Amino acid sequence: MLIAGLILAGIIFLLIHFLRSDDTGDSSIPYAKCASYPIVGHLFSFLRDRRKLFLECSKQYGDCFRIRMFNQYFTMILSHTDWTNVVRNSAFQFSATDFAVQIFDISRVFHGRSDYDADTHRLYIQHLKNREGLRPIVTQFVRQMRELIKNDKTILEKNGNTSEWISSGLLEFSHHMLYQPSTVALIGDTNPLDAEDDFRLFDTKFHYFLIPFPRWMASLLLSREFQARSRLNEFWPKTLDPPGSSQFHRDRLEMFSNHSQWMPDKDKAALQTAFFWASLGNTIPAVFWSLFYILRDPKAISTITEEINTHLPAVPLDGDEDWTPEQLDACVYLESAINETIRLVGTIFMTRKCIRDAQLILQDGRTVQFKEGENLAWFAGASHYSEKFFVKPNEFHFDRFLNKKADSVPGFMPFGGGKSICPGRFFAKFEIKACLAMLLRYMEYQIQDTQTIPTQMKARIGFGIAPPTKDIPIIYRYKS
Ligand code: HEM
Repeated sequence: MLIAGLILAGIIFLLIHFLRSDDTGDSSIPYAKCASYPIVGHLFSFLRDRRKLFLECSKQYGDCFRIRMFNQYFTMILSHTDWTNVVRNSAFQFSATDFAVQIFDISRVFHGRSDYDADTHRLYIQHLKNREGLRPIVTQFVRQMRELIKNDKTILEKNGNTSEWISSGLLEFSHHMLYQPSTVALIGDTNPLDAEDDFRLFDTKFHYFLIPFPRWMASLLLSREFQARSRLNEFWPKTLDPPGSSQFHRDRLEMFSNHSQWMPDKDKAALQTAFFWASLGNTIPAVFWSLFYILRDPKAISTITEEINTHLPAVPLDGDEDWTPEQLDACVYLESAINETIRLVGTIFMTRKCIRDAQLILQDGRTVQFKEGENLAWFAGASHYSEKFFVKPNEFHFDRFLNKKADSVPGFMPFGGGKSICPGRFFAKFEIKACLAMLLRYMEYQIQDTQTIPTQMKARIGFGIAPPTKDIPIIYRYKS
């Protein structure tokens, strides 16, 4: 009965949306008929396999075409050069608040708060976007990771089986190695393990929060995930001032309290959940994919191991010498392998809303008119897998990015672009590098099947780095 009611309500909701559909887009841009169905438009194709959808449509319609999800039209701008012009044009804005409301339950009071946006931006510049701000966070990450490995090894020693092979899933292993050290380094010792189950639950269904169901329907269909999100939001106020809290975290709390007159306490906690997810949701799969691609490539593994041994001091697990950002910078092959992995698996779907009537001159000479309220979008896969930008784009070449500044490699945009570009990208690179270096330094691995490349969770493609559809078994042991 309940299910029948839900289905009926869903159908009515779809029809209302469809009937309200208002297509005001520039008629010179073709509507992509491929994979479009009555009423829902491209929604099902988008949810099923968006990589296939965009690559197929672009074969037929080129770099600029329109798609529809229910009543919402998107003008797809797949050329990297044209998209760069979009993100530089202030008429096209990223509506971060809309996403945050839908995914993290943040209230709409943030709309138009340019004072808050400016303070957040300043905070990111101070702590996440410059070397001296990052140094204590990177150092703490390295210490925490070494501590974690040391503790894991101590447990094995107590049981007398340090040299035995241990079975795990590679994704599970990547999660274990990154989750706690990253959180303690960025925030402080909040007892992150207490929030681990809720993080996992929320993270595996994260992409469903973006489907435009009415709230009552979403909270029924995703009731466990809604509860997990609420528990995460309740978690942070309990650990406001954790031991070893980072300067970044303290400054962030102070910034929140400077805005207390209008910012509800519940939103402070929700913002914390949002940052917590942003710091881990893509980085854990990035470690999984990087380790997978490096371990299956004998030339990559030998070059990178030699490089790590040359540039990073052989600190014993109970030693206290830190690896510095400069030493990590010297590991250029490792950096290139990480960028190459992210190119293959970090194919984001980026959107912008037109906030006033505007026009865009495409590189092919066409001029496209946009009206206020129209949506534009770009899919990173269109250039990450394009031969125009990358030779043999479907292959992993660990040295492809050697000595290149990833931010300025044409066609490479896994962290977004313009004002809303990921502020955590420098820390992400440092922590992924330090994590892989430590895992390769202290442990050895066997992957049962290195020939088959796991498929990415299709529903998650477009939201950063999609994890694999299922974990892959590995065995590992500590090097003697
Ligand atoms: C490989 C790892 C990561 C990837 C691929 C990634 C990717 C992204 C992308 C695509 C966006 C949206 C950008 C846009 O729409 O223009 C974003 C936003 C964001 N990321 Fe990351 N990210 C990663 C790691 C991190 C880390 C480690 C942190 C924290 C230290 C972080 C913090 C954030 C924040 C706070 C935002 C929202 C920025 C805003 O409100 O404008 N990310 N990230």
